[in-house]
Amino acid sequence: MSNSTSTISVHLHAKDLSVLEGQTVVFFSKPSTKKDSPAVITEKDVTKVFESSLADKLITGAASEAITFREANLNEFRHAIIIGLGADSNSDHETIRQAGAALAREAKSAKFEEIFVHLDGLTNSKKDLAKYTQAFVEGLHLCSYNFNELKTAKKENRITNIHLVSKSGKDKALVAKFNEGTILASCANFAKRLGDMPGNLMTPTILADSAIAAAKGTSLKVSAWDKKRIEKEKMGGLLGVARGSAEEPRFIVMEYFGAAKTKKPIAFVGKGLTFDTGGISIKPSAKMEDMKYDMCGGAAVIGTMLAISQLKLKVNVVAYVAATENMPGSRATKPGDVHTARNGKTFEVNNTDAEGRLILSDALCYASEQNPQFIVDTATLTGAITVALGNVHTGYFTRNSAFKTKIEKAAVSSGELIWNMPLTDAHVKDMKGTYADLSNTSSAAGAGSATAAAFLEQFVGEGIPWAHFDIAGTAWACGNRLNYCSGKGATGVMVRTFVEIAKMYV
Ligand code: BES
Ligand code: MG
Ligand code: ZN
Repeated sequence: MSNSTSTISVHLHAKDLSVLEGQTVVFFSKPSTKKDSPAVITEKDVTKVFESSLADKLITGAASEAITFREANLNEFRHAIIIGLGADSNSDHETIRQAGAALAREAKSAKFEEIFVHLDGLTNSKKDLAKYTQAFVEGLHLCSYNFNELKTAKKENRITNIHLVSKSGKDKALVAKFNEGTILASCANFAKRLGDMPGNLMTPTILADSAIAAAKGTSLKVSAWDKKRIEKEKMGGLLGVARGSAEEPRFIVMEYFGAAKTKKPIAFVGKGLTFDTGGISIKPSAKMEDMKYDMCGGAAVIGTMLAISQLKLKVNVVAYVAATENMPGSRATKPGDVHTARNGKTFEVNNTDAEGRLILSDALCYASEQNPQFIVDTATLTGAITVALGNVHTGYFTRNSAFKTKIEKAAVSSGELIWNMPLTDAHVKDMKGTYADLSNTSSAAGAGSATAAAFLEQFVGEGIPWAHFDIAGTAWACGNRLNYCSGKGATGVMVRTFVEIAKMYV
């Protein structure tokens, strides 16, 4: 897997920090639990050194506060960094994830190359330490992602070595969570890179080849169907969208067998629209460049599969990414055209820019045919979800309440924010066609994300628990609220939550 996007290397050590020496040491601080008292450093022995800074409230312990003390000569370390963890009552793994990101940023701007972290200062609870270590490692890696491979200027190759030092560094649970955090963040970073690549360098073919290349040497089986095969498979939705483009579509098939072959798989489906011009119903020019991100659902599914295989989860998983461009070529689908999806349902295309639901229709049919325990799909499907939820929550839809409970639990574990949206028969009714079974646009105003979900539902097999995640608002440009995301770039959203969902089926 490509590692060129990371600038740090993180290691776990079973040692007592006091016997080590090096360039830079990191301690954590918290606000005092007593009103108007100065903050505290979580390692008591160190507090004395910072007494006056604490008394003057130069160190407040606020969440993600990062303060460098150069030439601190603290024990055998030359420099020191103090990272705030926020008040105990507010502290959860997301605070810790952001603390990791704060450290990665500080280390970069201070140009430190070797850092030793007093990991035991994260919490006094042994049980929480493993979980917090995972979150901290995720924050470090997610934040250290950068995308500069397309710039000719000399790249900075400096790698910061970050050593997490804990007395329980050999503890099995701690090591396992450390590894899990490393895998999750690197797979999310892998997904980010796919998203950040421009449309000309991330075509359907390149997306498929990237998935195949990344799976080399793992137990993940990846293949990609070409246009001929897609035609043979009667995927009229995907083909209808691909018609306007000179680039061939691809249907990416990923399989992972971690359990007995007889066990039903779980299924993930992603929208891999490598560039969405809108087609004949062409989009306005402003911000159209952002439509390179229209394959982030597919990228999230690929990242999820890589993580599941690296974690060796004892579960069977199939995943499908429908990949194409949406272009206004001379053979492109025209408004009013009717196509037939894989399950035989017909739909009229009243707006060629509502293409995501069309390519997902065939993928959902095919996933349903595998008789899975559930299907989860994700797509940058509608601008309307951004109107409803901004870039804070991913909106998700499901009519299965037991599945909903599991999904909510998974998101709490991952720290990704999701919000349940309504999906009812009224929305289904709005998607009825005039000349065909369905229309790809709603006959009613508003609820654009719910009606899109209602369209997708028509291609999910009877009785299969299904959830749809609309990531149009959260797939990129979340740097304003997540310090481990770059300002404008892809976020790798859903990889962590989807892996948590998969873990519930082992
Ligand atoms: N890829 C877009 C959705 C999108 C828009 C994602 C803005 C991120 C930011 C999708 O294919 C689309 O164009 N949807 C239309 C549907 C409409 C024509 C019914 C939309 O949301 O405007
Ligand atoms: Mg579109
Ligand atoms: Zn789109």
